Amino acid sequence: MTSNKTVLILPGDGIGPEVCNEAKKVLGHVNSLHNLGISMQELLVGGSAYEKFGKPLPEETLTAAIESDAILLGAVGGPNWDNLEYELRPERALLGLRSELDLFANLRPAILSKHLSDSSSLKKDKVQDLDLLIIRELTGGIYFGEPRGVTDSGNSAFNTMIYSKKEIERIGRVAFEAAQKRNKTLCSVDKANVLEVSVLWREVITNLSKEYPDVELSHMLVDNAAMQLVRNPKQFDVMVTGNLFGDILSDIAAMLTGSIGMLPSASLNSDNKGMYEPVHGSAPDISGKGLANPLAAISSVAMMLKYSFDLNEASKSIEKSIQEVLSEGYRTHDLEGAQNKKLTTSEMGNKIIENLK
Ligand code: IPM
Ligand code: MG
Repeated sequence: MTSNKTVLILPGDGIGPEVCNEAKKVLGHVNSLHNLGISMQELLVGGSAYEKFGKPLPEETLTAAIESDAILLGAVGGPNWDNLEYELRPERALLGLRSELDLFANLRPAILSKHLSDSSSLKKDKVQDLDLLIIRELTGGIYFGEPRGVTDSGNSAFNTMIYSKKEIERIGRVAFEAAQKRNKTLCSVDKANVLEVSVLWREVITNLSKEYPDVELSHMLVDNAAMQLVRNPKQFDVMVTGNLFGDILSDIAAMLTGSIGMLPSASLNSDNKGMYEPVHGSAPDISGKGLANPLAAISSVAMMLKYSFDLNEASKSIEKSIQEVLSEGYRTHDLEGAQNKKLTTSEMGNKIIENLK
C-alpha cells in the first residue's frame, strides 16, 4: 500500500533528539517493510529553534506542521532557556502548535506491560494489567484562558480557567466514543465543589451522556481522582478532564506504568490530524548520555500509524516488537529489574527494529 503521507519530525531539546532518532529509525523501517509511502522532514522547535532563529516556533516550522499529515515531537525545554521571557520559552512552541493546529484532544494511555510490573511504584497486584486512557482537553482551560498576566507592579499574577460548552462537548464526545470502543465506562474529573467552570463541565458531560446510553458515566473530584489513581488505579478505564487537571493526573498515571519513559501520547484535531509526543519531558540531566528510554517515542509512532493513518497492522507490529523486546529482559536505564540486559537509547531502538516483522 502506498499513501504519500508526510510526517514532520520535531526533535526539540534535551533527550528529544535522541529518542526521536530511534523513533525515526523505526518509522523508516516500518515504512519500507509495509511499503507505506511515508516521507519525513525534520525541523527545529523549542530551545534549539530559539538558538538559531531567536524564537521557539519559527514560521517555517509552524507552516510545515500545518502542511504535514502528522507530527512527531520529541521534547522541549531545558535550563539554558529557563530565564527567557515567557513568549520565548521553549514550552511556548508546544502550546503554540497545540493551539494553532487545534489539537484539542490529548490521548494519554497508561498501559503497564506485563513484563514491567516490577518497575511500578505500586505493588504488583494493584497495577498488573493496568490499561487506562486519560483524555485531556488540550487547547483551552487555564493554559489559554484570558485575561492573564502580572499586575500590581509584579506583586500579583493571575490566570483564567475558562471553558465554553462547545469546548467541553467536543472533548466529551471524544471520551464517550473512546469509552464505547473499550469497557464502556467513563470517569469525568473536575473540581465542581469549588469552581464554576467545573460545575459547567459536569453539567455538559452529564447532558452529553444521554447520547451515549451504553457508557456508564461517573464524576470524580480531582483531588480524590489523584488519590484513587495511586490507591486503586484499575477501577478506571477512560478518564476525561480539563487541561490543567489532565496534565497532573497523566503524570501520576505515567508513574504507575514503571517509568514515564514508557508513555506515548496523541494530540488530535477534529480530523484526526495529530501531533504525537512521548509524555516525558526533555530530561536535560540525562541528555546526550545514551540513557534515555526511546520506547515512549517509538510507541508514539505506533499511535500515529493507528490514529492519523489508520494503519493498524503496522501500528500493532511496533507494539508487538516492544513487548517482545521487554519479554526478553532488555531494559533501558530508567527501568528497574534486569540489570544484565541494560541497553543504551540507540541499542534499544535497534532491538525494536530487529524484532519488527
Ligand atoms: C505536558 C507538559 C506540558 C504541559 C508543558 C511542557 C508545557 O507538561 O505535555 O504534559 O504542561 O502541557
Ligand atoms: Mg505534563
